[in-house]
Amino acid sequence: MSSDSISAAMRQNLSQGSMIRRMFEAGIELKKKYGNDAVCDFSLGNPDLAPPVQAAQAMQSLADKLSIPGILGYMPNAGFAWAREQLASWLSTQQDMHLEARHVMLGCGAAGVMNAFFHTVLEPGDEVIAVAPFFGEYRFYVSNHGGVLKTVPCRLSDFAPDAAAIDKAITTRTRALIINSPNNPSGAVYPAEVLREIASVLEHASSRTGRTIYLVSDEPYRFLTYDGITVPPALPLYRNAVITSSFAKNYGLAGERVGYIAINPGMDDAEALMDGLIFSNRVLGFVNPPVVGQYLMSGCLGSSTEEAVSIYTRRRDRLAGILADAGYAFTPPQGTFYFFPKAPGGDDKAFTEHLAQFLVLGVPSSGFGMPGYFRLSFAVDDAVIERSQEGFRKAIKKFQ
Ligand SMILES: Cc1ncc(COP(=O)(O)O)c(C=O)c1O
Repeated sequence: MSSDSISAAMRQNLSQGSMIRRMFEAGIELKKKYGNDAVCDFSLGNPDLAPPVQAAQAMQSLADKLSIPGILGYMPNAGFAWAREQLASWLSTQQDMHLEARHVMLGCGAAGVMNAFFHTVLEPGDEVIAVAPFFGEYRFYVSNHGGVLKTVPCRLSDFAPDAAAIDKAITTRTRALIINSPNNPSGAVYPAEVLREIASVLEHASSRTGRTIYLVSDEPYRFLTYDGITVPPALPLYRNAVITSSFAKNYGLAGERVGYIAINPGMDDAEALMDGLIFSNRVLGFVNPPVVGQYLMSGCLGSSTEEAVSIYTRRRDRLAGILADAGYAFTPPQGTFYFFPKAPGGDDKAFTEHLAQFLVLGVPSSGFGMPGYFRLSFAVDDAVIERSQEGFRKAIKKFQ
């Protein structure tokens, strides 16, 4: 392979790789060697629950229509008009704000619509702030479109954003702030008063810099909280807010790639932003959101997530017990299906490699922009959690 066969930037991305992916591959090797059942794999955030029963009915009624010409054909780049309407109505209740179809766009997962958003708003060299720890893929969603991701540490006490630190990080090049609550990987749910402080910081900073600074609230885990905690609506908090999300986690449709972006109707030039998003959906090659995904969404919208939440609650409680008994330091997640314990010894990469020797796989936190921790996904069967007890106990011995 000649040295210029792929771009220098891509070469660098490939050499750094994704830690989640690397742990996934290490897991495959360990499973080959010791057998599938011996390895406790907490590395991937891929929901393991079946979709709601309404998904089967939606598939059946779509199957009955398959003889209609064009049923699976292209559609408007923002999604079916009826799907946008249904989504807008569902989100109006969730976000406590009246939204119409023209304020939402469907796309290929939260990942796809975030790419469409940054493609629409970034000038080359623009900065996007993320609060660490953050979902590592944000780096690419921003750099894919000429932007630079700048990170600001969270408050160590509760993993919530530090509004004063965000204010300090804002420059004349700042275009957006990404927040993610409930947070992957920390499991924190950001308190309403912190969100209000952030909105005020952004409002003042926009006037100071003379630029629209967007708040991007990425919320695929909104449905999954514990102990009666709720996630405050983000859209009404700030004029230039958008939310991104998908039906990957709540309805177990991750591979079906149906996601959405909603914009605050009162924002600066809302129509131009939506036109840009729809254009970006097209030219980035997504073209339109998946047909089957929209039918699935339509069938599932409004169906209860109570059963899923109760399964995750049971798993969270059991894993919390195992980690606490073994002596790990952690804050129990308020939402999501992730634990984010401190890495014994302080070196997250060294510890996750050490833990793997006991056939337990987690992900080092460096990839989430906050070294010193490791992430465990409990989107796994209860039996895996049960089996992990011994590995967790043995792995920490060296540090006690
Ligand atoms: C915080 C966060 N944002 C976005 C995504 C991407 O979601 P989707 O599969 O809908 O593209 C994920 C997936 O794990 C995530 O954890």
